[in-house]
Amino acid sequence: MRRSARWALGILGELLSNAKPGRRYAGPPMTTNGGGRALVTGGTGGIGEEVCRGLAARGYDVLVGARDPAKGEAVAARLREEFPGAHKCAVCDLNEGDAALPRGVNLLVNNAGVMGAATDETMRVNLLAPARLTLGLRARNRKLRVVNVASSSHLRARACPVARMLDDRRRDKSLSAYAASKLGLLQFTAALRNNGVDARACHPGLVWTPMLKGFFPAPVRAVLPRRLFKTPAEGAATVLLACVDDEAGTYYMDSGDRPAAASPECSATGALVDELGALGLNIR
Ligand SMILES: NC(=O)c1ccc[n+]([C@@H]2O[C@H](COP(=O)([O-])OP(=O)(O)OC[C@H]3O[C@@H](n4cnc5c(N)ncnc54)[C@H](OP(=O)(O)O)[C@@H]3O)[C@@H](O)[C@H]2O)c1
Repeated sequence: MRRSARWALGILGELLSNAKPGRRYAGPPMTTNGGGRALVTGGTGGIGEEVCRGLAARGYDVLVGARDPAKGEAVAARLREEFPGAHKCAVCDLNEGDAALPRGVNLLVNNAGVMGAATDETMRVNLLAPARLTLGLRARNRKLRVVNVASSSHLRARACPVARMLDDRRRDKSLSAYAASKLGLLQFTAALRNNGVDARACHPGLVWTPMLKGFFPAPVRAVLPRRLFKTPAEGAATVLLACVDDEAGTYYMDSGDRPAAASPECSATGALVDELGALGLNIR
């Protein structure tokens, strides 16, 4: 089956499954595993804010990653009201080079992402910044757990040409750069695992967030039945499972690890490792 057909069938299956009452996964049990300190990038809305909330509820001190300090501090303040813990904002604009590396982080959730932005920005925010953050925090803590929020759209891509995308300022109207960046994130996850890092990836589902809403023209948006999409809390449920699961799965979707739903290209890490290495991002 052609890759775009496989992806489209997957989307259809997800929409139909979302529409069935009672089929949506509510998240892992509310147990704490000792917590620690979690950094969640893109914690200022959509899925990321709900991941912050779910981690705070499970005993983590949460660093809310935000490019806008006011938005990040507002989320952190809400977390402090709702849950015990020293929840704070960590300012990082992932499109702007090196982010500061906070101390004491034992869980990193690379959640921030853009879709339909310029091709070079898509590459920086969706892959290079997560790679830089991961490798920087891993150098400080060998026990770091990493959860990469990917997307089933990786099924549309064959490869992730990093240098070529960084050189391309055109808007990613076809979302092919988005698909390639998410394939790259999955290959990065596989390369980390090959090098002994506790790294997991997940697809949160089709979630009604600003990112997805922005994809549809206003007239379509107005008539789309909401029940076809997960809420941000429902999307976060799968990310939270990837965060706390002791089984260390590879590709979480809905309520479990489903590596069969990923493409064979996800484990073809050679070209990506070389391209990242050329940018000074050495995984080994
Ligand atoms: N929604 C879906 O159906 C869906 C499906 C598959 C995968 N995903 C993935 O899920 C993740 C979260 O997406 P979402 O749907 O929750 O989208 P969203 O509501 O648009 O949230 C995206 C988050 O990323 C942040 N962000 C964007 N550019 C940034 C930058 N340069 N530096 C730092 N933060 C930046 C945003 O910050 P601001 O608040 O400042 O804008 C926001 O917090 C993404 O990786 C996305 O690819 C989503």
